[in-house]
Amino acid sequence: MTSHDGPSRYGFLDCNSPIAAWRLDRQVEECAAAAPQLIVDIGCGWGELLQRVTAKVPGAQAYGIDSDLELLERGRAGAAAKGIADRVEFVEYQGKDWETPADLVVCIGAAHAFGTGAEALRALYPLVKPGGRLLFGDGVWNRVPTESELEPMWPGTTAEEFVLLPRLVDEAVATGFRPLRVESVEQSEWDDFESQFLADKESWLLANPGHSRAAEIREQADAHRDWWLRGHRRLLGFAYLTLGRPVA
Ligand SMILES: C[S@@+](CC[C@H](N)C(=O)[O-])C[C@H]1O[C@@H](n2cnc3c(N)ncnc32)[C@H](O)[C@@H]1O
Repeated sequence: MTSHDGPSRYGFLDCNSPIAAWRLDRQVEECAAAAPQLIVDIGCGWGELLQRVTAKVPGAQAYGIDSDLELLERGRAGAAAKGIADRVEFVEYQGKDWETPADLVVCIGAAHAFGTGAEALRALYPLVKPGGRLLFGDGVWNRVPTESELEPMWPGTTAEEFVLLPRLVDEAVATGFRPLRVESVEQSEWDDFESQFLADKESWLLANPGHSRAAEIREQADAHRDWWLRGHRRLLGFAYLTLGRPVA
């Protein structure tokens, strides 16, 4: 997980979104139970969920779409290790340019590829075949933060960036979906996610305290920890919506 040149990237994370192992297992089971034959994951990163669902559905063909080549390469390695490299294609593509409808569409933590959460839901609807499903994951406010609470969050964060969970579900329903499952993560899932996100840099710093890049990496890690602990912690939640599109 550490090299002399610099910290690893996402080396401690199974998925690049807050999610407990038990929740991921259940989502994989539920997605696979619908036996989707064509699956697309938009903003897949390395597509851990995509790989696991595809491995469970015999004959399914899957596409993972992302703009980050390094993450796509990790996805290809993961699919090869699971023996499904012939059924999962990891494609460098802009999320909003994908046009082929699928039985299962996944979009987790990547709504910004379309705009707001509501805009993403509207753009994703035609990509779900009638009778198919969307697994959508996005940030939601636990309560709308005040101006002074927004201040220590990531630069540029605004109250409009996210909505409350009921509003996000309303947006999905207004788009035409029916909600099959609505869930939001526990604080411990966010804390695990942020800790594991920072673990690349922290473990590297412990092993390389005198490195020429140590001051730069320390500054990045300290800033990120502040945005988390003094910023979004307890204010920002993360929702997973399993949404069905009615048959034609
Ligand atoms: C928070 S990560 C989530 C990754 C993955 N869905 C997961 O849950 O592990 C967001 C991903 O969206 C990708 N992304 C951001 N903008 C994109 C775009 N315009 N087109 C395609 N992918 C994009 C990023 O490269 C990143 O891998």
